[in-house]
Amino acid sequence: MKARLCMVLLLAVFIQPLQADKPGKAAIATAHYMATEAGHETFAMGGNAFDAAVAISAVLAVLEQTSCGIGGGGFYLIHRAEDGFETMIDAREMAPALAHRDMYLNPDGTANHDLSRSGPLAAGIPGQVAGMEHLAAKYGKLPLAVSLQPAIRIARDGFPVYTKFLGMLSRTEKTMRRWPAAPEVFLPGGKLPEMGQVIKNPDLLKVLEKIAAEGSDGFYKGELASKLVDGVRDAGGIWSMEDLANYEVKEREPIRTRYQEYELVTAPPPSSGGIAIAEMLNIIAPYQVSQLDRVQRTHLLVEAMRRAYRDRALYLGDPDFYEVPGQMLTDANYAAGLRAGIRFDKATPSAMLPGRDIQPGGTDTTHFSVMDDEGNMVAATLTVNTPFGSKFMVPGTGFMLNNEMDDFSTKPGEPNAWGLIGFTANEVQPHKRPLSSMSPTLMFGKDRQGIIGTPGGSRIITMVLLGVLDFFEGNGPESWVSLPRFHHQYMPDTIFAEPGAFSPDEVAALETMGHAIDVKSYTWGNMHGVMWNRETGEVSAASDKRSDAGLAVVR
Ligand code: GLY
Repeated sequence: MKARLCMVLLLAVFIQPLQADKPGKAAIATAHYMATEAGHETFAMGGNAFDAAVAISAVLAVLEQTSCGIGGGGFYLIHRAEDGFETMIDAREMAPALAHRDMYLNPDGTANHDLSRSGPLAAGIPGQVAGMEHLAAKYGKLPLAVSLQPAIRIARDGFPVYTKFLGMLSRTEKTMRRWPAAPEVFLPGGKLPEMGQVIKNPDLLKVLEKIAAEGSDGFYKGELASKLVDGVRDAGGIWSMEDLANYEVKEREPIRTRYQEYELVTAPPPSSGGIAIAEMLNIIAPYQVSQLDRVQRTHLLVEAMRRAYRDRALYLGDPDFYEVPGQMLTDANYAAGLRAGIRFDKATPSAMLPGRDIQPGGTDTTHFSVMDDEGNMVAATLTVNTPFGSKFMVPGTGFMLNNEMDDFSTKPGEPNAWGLIGFTANEVQPHKRPLSSMSPTLMFGKDRQGIIGTPGGSRIITMVLLGVLDFFEGNGPESWVSLPRFHHQYMPDTIFAEPGAFSPDEVAALETMGHAIDVKSYTWGNMHGVMWNRETGEVSAASDKRSDAGLAVVR
C-alpha cells in the first residue's frame, strides 16, 4: 500500500511540467551576421554571454560605425544566471570638463544645431572601451584581448559593404567630407563604395591591437589619448587628457516593474527608457489591452506614450547631476492620476500639457541580445547617436567620434536631432551624461524569459513597449521584431505610423477621436530579440527584417 502511494507521488512529480534550469543552447541576435558569428566563436572558446557581448560590440565597432563604435558608448543590461544578479553597465559618454550650458547657442541666443551634431565639439568622452573592459574583467571568463580577436581580424581583412551601411553613408557623406580622415576610410578613392566592396581599416586595427595589449589605458591614456585630444582640439573641440583619463563606467540598479504576472528589468537613468516604459505599463495596467479592439488599444497606448514622453522632457536627466523623481514616475498611484485624465472617446491634445512643437529625426544606434547555454543574459544598446555620429574622425584612428552632446537639452525646450525636448534636468554640465532613450530590457514570466531592444532614437522606447506587450501576450521574438510600429512622443502631437500599421478605417477612427496621424513611407527600428521558454526548453531568436544584415542564430 505504502509502496503504491510512493509510486503515485513519484508519477505525480513527473507529470508536472518540468522547467529546465538552463537553456542548454546559446542564442544571439545582432544587427550584423559577422557580429553574431563572432559571439558564437567566443562561446566555442569557452566564453560566456558577457564575453560574447564584448566580441560583438568590438565587431560592430568595426563594421557598423554608422551606429556605434569605440568613439561612442552604450548600456549593457545583464543578468547573471548563477545568482540572478542584475545590473546595468553604463558606458554612456560624458561631457568634457570645458562643456557648459550655453555652448551650443549662437550669439543671438538661438540654438546652433550644427555645433551639437557635427564635428568634434559634438562629441562626448567615449565610454565604449571602458565598458567592454569592465564587462570582460568583472563578468567574463576570457581576457579582453581574446574577445577582441574577431574585431581585429575584420579590421585587418575587411567587411563587405551592405545595404544599410551604404544608405547611411550616402545620407551623411556631404557632412563627412568636411573633415579629411573619415572619407579616407569610408569613401575610398573619394567616392561611395559599391555594394559588397571590402572596407579594411588599418588605423582601427592598430587601435584595437593596442587596446588588446594595454587594456583601456591604451585608449584613455598615453599616445592614443594624446592623438585624440590634439585631433579634437585642432578641429575646434575641447577635450583634454584629464577628460579621457577620468572617464568612468558606472553600474546602475535597473528599473524593475511588474505587469500582471511578469517582471520587467530595464534601463535606469541616464536612460529615459526604463522609467517611461514602467510609467506607460502602469497607466495601462487595469485594462486588458489584448482584449481591446485595435483602435481602442492604439488610442490607449498613444495616450500613455504622450504622458510618459511629457515626463521625460520635464524630469529626466543624469541622476548624478539631477534628482530624478524615479520613484514618483514609476509609482502606480502616480499612473492612476495620469490615467484619470484619459478619455476613452477623445485624444488629449498635447498642448493641454506643457511643451513645444518638435519633429522627430532619423534613426540609428544598434542593439543586440545574447543568452548563453547557462542562462546568462545581455541586452546591449550601443550608439554614436545619429548616423556616423559627429561625422568627424581624428586622423590616424579609424573610428568615428559620437555626437552624443546633442542628446543634452542644448537650449530649454529646443528639439534635439530626435525631436525630443528637455529642460534643466538634461542641460549641459561638465562631466554629465546626456539623457538617452536606449532601452535594453529583460523580460521574465513564470515560464518564459526574453531579451529585447532596438535602435531608433526617440522611438526606441515605444518600439520596446510594443515588443514587451507582445511578449506578455505569449508571442516570441519573430513576432516582436516584425510588429508594425507606431509612435507618439508628446510633441509633435501626432501618431507616427509605419506603412501598413493601420488600415484606412483604423486611421479614420483614430482621426475621429482627435488624433493626428502621419503614416510614413518608411519603416524604423532594427530590433533583435531572444527568448527561452523554460517549460518547453525551446530557445529562439530573431533579427529585424527591416535591415538586410542582421542575423539571429541559436546553437
Ligand atoms: N543617442 C540616442 C540615445 O541615446 O537615445
